[in-house]
Amino acid sequence: MIAETIKKRAKILSGKEVAEAIKGKVAEEVRNLPFRPCLAAVRVGEDAASKVYVSNKVRTSEELGLISEHRHLPAETTQEELLNLVQELNRRDDVDGILVQLPLPKQINEKEILETINPEKDVDGFHPVNVGRLASGQNALVPCTPAGVIEILRYYDIEIAEKHAVIVGRSNIVGKPMAMLLLRENATVTICHSRTKNLAEITSQADILVAAIGRAGFIGGEHIKQGAVVIDVGINNFSDKDLAREFFDESEIEKRLKTIEKRGFTLVGDVNPKEAMEKAGAFTPVPGGVGLLTVAMLMKNTVEAAKMRRLKEN
Ligand code: GUN
Repeated sequence: MIAETIKKRAKILSGKEVAEAIKGKVAEEVRNLPFRPCLAAVRVGEDAASKVYVSNKVRTSEELGLISEHRHLPAETTQEELLNLVQELNRRDDVDGILVQLPLPKQINEKEILETINPEKDVDGFHPVNVGRLASGQNALVPCTPAGVIEILRYYDIEIAEKHAVIVGRSNIVGKPMAMLLLRENATVTICHSRTKNLAEITSQADILVAAIGRAGFIGGEHIKQGAVVIDVGINNFSDKDLAREFFDESEIEKRLKTIEKRGFTLVGDVNPKEAMEKAGAFTPVPGGVGLLTVAMLMKNTVEAAKMRRLKEN
């Protein structure tokens, strides 16, 4: 008999499937509420990616039965004008969630804006009060992308407790809150970043590896332990047709090259998908992975914020 080695490929963790399940639950919850939760989304200037993200957030809110209010201010908006808008939304009783899309133009002090949002309406979970609550194990509104990662792991029955989770990236939006959430689930957590020495040595010990560094395909096979769960949070535009062959296998490359031809770029995460498929036990694809969870979790947070604020007994 000829010995044949069948290469095992990673199980694909579908963000779409998890996001649909969450959105279904949120829509049902909204139908059962005596009011319609309202999300106010604020965008300043003409950042192309922000435009797409905010329109997705507004469209999804409406699909799920929430009320959404999209406020778009010009690129030259002053700090005072933006502060006034946030304060107006804070005061309005019909507004449950306030989201100020980042990045903001250079003249704006982002920290001051985020600190002005009422923590009860802070559906992004970026206000220091919510950051502190999460860090100290209290009930908090939690940043959507890392919360979505936990939902993916739960949906696919992936054990977190007692596992070694390694996060690559230390941003306030993903890396740091991701660490807090994995700790809350009783993982042993390591955070790596751009100044970490011997990165592969550390990441290759991870049972769960979360990549959130913003560099296309940076995490390769040498960073991944055989059979690990690899969560790719990165979303990068990628247009190099030659390098594309190093990222995509035969089943994928033609489609990706066509996308680059047509749109000028294709989306790639922070993980090399070809190598992850060969080495990981499970893997979130880009597109179709974590990105879809961010919007679903924002909807969940908005309903949560609405319930906490409107239904609290006092
Ligand atoms: N920019 C990139 N990600 C996010 C996010 O989750 N929320 C907001 N408000 N801005 C972002």
